[in-house]
Amino acid sequence: MLRRPLQDADLLRQQALFNGQWQGAISGETLPVIDPSSGEVIATIPALGAGETEQAIAFAERVRADWGKTPNAQRALLLEKWHQLIVAHADDLAIIMTAEQGKPLAEAKGEVLYGASFVKWFAEEARRIYGDTLPAPEQGRRILVLKQPVGVAAAITPWNFPIAMITRKVAPAVAAGCPIIVKPSELTPLSALALAVLAERAGFPAGVLQVLTGLPTAIGQTLTASRIVRKISFTGSTRVGQWLMEHSADSIKRLSLELGGNAPLIVFDDADIELAVAGVMMSKFRNAGQTCVCANRILVQRGIMPKFTARLLQEVSQLRVGDGFDASSMLGPLINAAAREKVNRHIADALNHGAELLYGGISEDNGTFARPTVLSGVTTAMRIAHEETFGPVAPLFMFDHEDEAIAMANDTPYGLGAYFFTEDLRRAWRVGEALEFGMVGFNTGSISFDVAPFGGIKLSGIGREGSHYGIDEYLALKTFHFGSL
Ligand code: SIN
Repeated sequence: MLRRPLQDADLLRQQALFNGQWQGAISGETLPVIDPSSGEVIATIPALGAGETEQAIAFAERVRADWGKTPNAQRALLLEKWHQLIVAHADDLAIIMTAEQGKPLAEAKGEVLYGASFVKWFAEEARRIYGDTLPAPEQGRRILVLKQPVGVAAAITPWNFPIAMITRKVAPAVAAGCPIIVKPSELTPLSALALAVLAERAGFPAGVLQVLTGLPTAIGQTLTASRIVRKISFTGSTRVGQWLMEHSADSIKRLSLELGGNAPLIVFDDADIELAVAGVMMSKFRNAGQTCVCANRILVQRGIMPKFTARLLQEVSQLRVGDGFDASSMLGPLINAAAREKVNRHIADALNHGAELLYGGISEDNGTFARPTVLSGVTTAMRIAHEETFGPVAPLFMFDHEDEAIAMANDTPYGLGAYFFTEDLRRAWRVGEALEFGMVGFNTGSISFDVAPFGGIKLSGIGREGSHYGIDEYLALKTFHFGSL
């Protein structure tokens, strides 16, 4: 039971959608969905496995050719309708998300609209899947490049953005003409199922979007092993991304992997302090620090450290942690006790290695709520410098010179997001070009938009989502030679 009633109770589904119908597991097994604020079970979902995944793949393959031939304008219209329905049901979708993920209701609604923006964007892009004509090397020949749907696709999505990480994958797949099977996180499946209800209402033909709920291993193994599934898009940990890559080798599947990060945020002496603090608050504390692009290492130049720290502490002390359904909460719980344990371990390790606790600290109770925390004197000897904390901890590192900051920022095997703050435009170009990351924010802590490519380099993954590049992930190029003309 959700703690808030829905206007449209039909959005709360406890069955999966595959093989043309809403249904449970062949075994009858279910998994609980837990509200991370209260620890209560709010629903159950089918615990699907290999058998149901095979059925879903076969069903997607049956609709693949027809869906691929559907005129782009028609696919665009369906996406537009889906977008309208998501926006119209934003309040209910936000309630479902807060109930299963914990983020404050206003933030959840923000994510619903962020997620909807990808559907709108790719509805528009569906009409712009242009090919090419190439100058031919000999008379009587013409060469065209056609862009065709890659085939059956699958999306494996995380719990931190239960809607946006789905729409960012499903919308381009659908626009490109690929049927897609979504395996949402077993921690936040209800948002995915509600999206599927709205897709059905929008008129998506059966099999174009299927949602498989359950534990990841059996479903993931079946998806990766299949030669029918031509593409997997995954957002989650680097470890799982590596596993998917290994298991996709046999079928030479196309992969988009949006993996872990260890984002630096650099504040130079000449930064506008208000901008820099606002950037940290946005980047570090969004979703209680549970994003792949959260500032994980805040590098501050020596001269500005005292002023910056004082101003940051003023802002952090305003943060209210609490139940996502309480309108005064600014940070909700972390997804589960294990996530909170990791945050506590990072704080304890930093303190044991000589960091100073400026605010917050280890959370002592048994729950899932973590205290916003600021640490200073953080060094590379501490775990927090190398591992993603995925929680509301702001560790402050000090540097003296620009080159040193760039070297510190790049000293990570990850390369997703990075941020820096300066008022010097020449420095902005130098630093922006030197940072080895897929996305760089200069004087801003927000880098996530439908129009902008999202993705990383190094251990942070391959491929891009969103933007006009995002649809290419679901398209195959075919070179079409005309001879003897
Ligand atoms: C993520 O944390 O994986 C995505 C964050 C975003 O879209 O901004």
